[in-house]
Amino acid sequence: MSRAGDIPLEPPLVRGAGAAPVKEDRTYLGYVAAALASALLGGFALAVWMPLAATDAVPGIERAPRLVQAHGWLQLQGWAGLFVAGMAIRIVPRFAGRRPVPGRVTVPLLGLLAAPLALRLFAVPWLDGEAAGAAALAAGLLTAAGCAGVAAVLGWTLLRGRRGRGEAWRGFAAAGALWWLAWAPLAAWWGGRAAEGDGLAPAAFDDAMAWAVMLGAIGNFILGVQSRSVPVFFGRRPPPGAAMAGPGLLLNGGAGLFVLAMAADGAAAARLAGAGLALSGGGLCWGLPLAGAVRGRAHRLRPRARPAARFVLAANLAGVAAGALMAAAGAAMLADGSYAAAPLRDAARHLFGLGPITLLILGMARLIAPVFAVARTEARTAGWLERAPFWLLLAALGIRAGAGLASGTVSYDAWMHASALAGALGWLAIALFAADVLRAARNEGRNLAAIEAAALGPNRRPQ
Ligand code: HEM
Repeated sequence: MSRAGDIPLEPPLVRGAGAAPVKEDRTYLGYVAAALASALLGGFALAVWMPLAATDAVPGIERAPRLVQAHGWLQLQGWAGLFVAGMAIRIVPRFAGRRPVPGRVTVPLLGLLAAPLALRLFAVPWLDGEAAGAAALAAGLLTAAGCAGVAAVLGWTLLRGRRGRGEAWRGFAAAGALWWLAWAPLAAWWGGRAAEGDGLAPAAFDDAMAWAVMLGAIGNFILGVQSRSVPVFFGRRPPPGAAMAGPGLLLNGGAGLFVLAMAADGAAAARLAGAGLALSGGGLCWGLPLAGAVRGRAHRLRPRARPAARFVLAANLAGVAAGALMAAAGAAMLADGSYAAAPLRDAARHLFGLGPITLLILGMARLIAPVFAVARTEARTAGWLERAPFWLLLAALGIRAGAGLASGTVSYDAWMHASALAGALGWLAIALFAADVLRAARNEGRNLAAIEAAALGPNRRPQ
């Protein structure tokens, strides 16, 4: 019997020896698991350890700059990158009207994407001299190969799939795929520069590349995936492609300026990065309310799915706040020709990283990943495992962004210790979410069998 909030799933129509069963493609779960592992063992674990090490509260003060770079790349390339790659490879073919990408492509690609992350976590920060340089070069080259693979899969799918022309998601997906392609030579370049620095890339170069990847390779998918579904959840029509052209141009123009900043030095590099921040910040403030949602009720969602909508609202509000801080910091850098407004940039980066990246990953996974759609058919309301991550992440976001904003006025120790607290709350949120993914994946078979039995009625059993 169905209840309010149930997700109607198609019952299997034909069963028998001659009929090929439709097999749910579950390889996206491998990407989700790898992203979660990268967050829990890497990015969020370092978000606790690294600020404590930087203040000599735990061992590792001499490694602090390497741990900062490892943290940044594990969050961007591991947590955000693996999740975006896995979900994009799953949903872009469906949106574009193409067959799913086969496991013989997605599984080796996952291995290629995961290998450099292991190097960034276990080798680069802990080695010295030429060994650290060689590990960084290997991490850069492997990253390049993995990124080129993702770009090839998405690019081919978009070129062959005809559905969705003129829709906003398609422009963002195409721009995102091009950014994964551009990431390949950028990663190889990063490897070369870090090899010269015995495992440590020059700070301004690393910073500019991190912004380019965060906005280009990740940001386009944040706007694209939302634009197709989120307005509908909130009772609005998806924005047409033309309406999103302005925000898209600002976002991508800004990300492109960061690439130019990587090639420049001194005041010119600071001015290019400042212009990049100002443009892309404007793009986020303009685009997120249109493609996503910053207010209203998600009344078009089934009641059981509605708690996930607050992740989406909070993520987009944090993204707009990040955009405003980016625009302000960018204007200061342009005017000054220096890396001014560091507190604004640190706060903006973490509002974006914990908002449109982390909160949105958790919210959209709940709303669109099949494993959670099936779990929602269980006869129970959202439990604490489902609710707690939201409040933990909100606290982490507030403390981390607040600490960044205050970093110009409070002591270094206070900034770092507040960051470590935020890191611990964020880690716990991701751990609880991972436990819920595991629970949903373990129960998926049983829930699907229950759905099938209910669809066939009391007197008919599947053959
Ligand atoms: C509560 C969670 C987090 C905490 C406590 C945290 C903490 C920190 C700290 C202390 C720094 C070094 C700041 C400095 O010395 O200038 C940093 C840098 C950075 N963080 Fe986070 N972070 C968190 C989450 C994230 C997330 C989710 C992302 C992206 C998805 C991210 C991306 C970065 C990047 C790119 C850098 C700069 C790395 C570099 O300079 O090479 N962080 N973070």
